[in-house]
Amino acid sequence: MDVIDIIRTKRDHGELTDPQIDWVIDAYTRGTVADEQMSALAMAILLNGMTRREIARWTAAMIASGERLDIAGDLSAAGGAARPTADKHSTGGVGDKITLPLAPLVAACGAVVPQLSGRGLGHTGGTLDKLESIPGWRASLSNKEMLDVLGSAGCVVCAAGEGLAPADRKLYALRDVTGTVESIPLIASSIMSKKIAEGTGSLVLDVKVGTGAFMKTLDDARELASTMVGLGTDHGVRTVALVTDMSTPLGRTAGNALEVREALEVLAGEGPADVVALTLALAREMLDAAGLPDADPAKALADGSAMDAWRRMITAQGGDPDAPLPDARETHTVTAATSGVLTRLDAYDVGVAAWRLGAGRARKEDPVQAAAGIVLHAKPGDPVTEGAPLLTLHTDTPDRIPHALESLTSSYDIAPAGTEFVVGPIVHERIG
Ligand code: URA
Repeated sequence: MDVIDIIRTKRDHGELTDPQIDWVIDAYTRGTVADEQMSALAMAILLNGMTRREIARWTAAMIASGERLDIAGDLSAAGGAARPTADKHSTGGVGDKITLPLAPLVAACGAVVPQLSGRGLGHTGGTLDKLESIPGWRASLSNKEMLDVLGSAGCVVCAAGEGLAPADRKLYALRDVTGTVESIPLIASSIMSKKIAEGTGSLVLDVKVGTGAFMKTLDDARELASTMVGLGTDHGVRTVALVTDMSTPLGRTAGNALEVREALEVLAGEGPADVVALTLALAREMLDAAGLPDADPAKALADGSAMDAWRRMITAQGGDPDAPLPDARETHTVTAATSGVLTRLDAYDVGVAAWRLGAGRARKEDPVQAAAGIVLHAKPGDPVTEGAPLLTLHTDTPDRIPHALESLTSSYDIAPAGTEFVVGPIVHERIG
């Protein structure tokens, strides 16, 4: 096999053969194919796409690069009751704290929820970074610890081990620094290789669309969703996707500890309407896919059983669910320039501002600030008054504030009072 031939084939709009795909993924994982060669191939894939057959084979080769887990089997071997497993994956957005209330909620309704999650990179936040703002909480667990937490709490949110789809781990880091993330074949194979290798029985995908998402148009989000549903189904995983809105941040917070606080509001039966609606929509899909269609997630939020599962999960992972969350040393409030109706608050701009305040990282080894982020005082459709707070910026490093403010200068529109404005749906489509 010749890697240059493989790159030329994709560059010239050709189709890669199965042996070529198997070889290039294996050789890249072992270090025989160099980063600069894989970058060229990733760019050719981004520009020229892949057929469904190529995507399926690319995904299978990435799964084969590492170990495959069987969480349900391991749980029953460890003496756990046979309960269906359910998993969800979001393609990433701003203020997307849904996993935090969702995992304990679905566990409280009777499924086992192993959520192997990631850290944030760029303007999108990462679930592990959010949970690490809870004093004592640990993301890295051995397989045995993960099974123990699942046994006691019914859910676990932890880092995926090094052995799971190592080809994707290497390729994703490379794509992140070579402008090759936003490719439907590469995103679909990246997400689905990890999820299939994890061995979940069912999977609900939250495919984001809008300025704060990788997919900017409904057509692209739909194609990504149906590609992933096809890959899951072909591997025997019951898979459905919801295409959901990411034109404005989810809820009223973006940032690590700030988002944990909001998740706690949802678990206490309150919280912003969009976060509650999406949490319940995804919970219903997960329970349905796991064969528990009669469970009532709204009741589990209202009666405190989801909060109980959260407390058990946080405690089992070394965290103190009652410890105060960190507050930022400095805040800065942006006020509304005029009175009227807020008609746009851009998810990407808010995500970049939160990232610049320290909530996210530029390189994967960078630390994040637990308390940094942004609180939104109004959402699209809300009335605003001239001089009233619109956004509050939180950071431990005040010299970051001017750079964060730059990304917010044209992030919102206010229309005259009385302008009719209809808030769009949170779930655009269901595919599967
Ligand atoms: N999340 C992933 O795991 N992979 C991608 O390519 C994009 C988002």
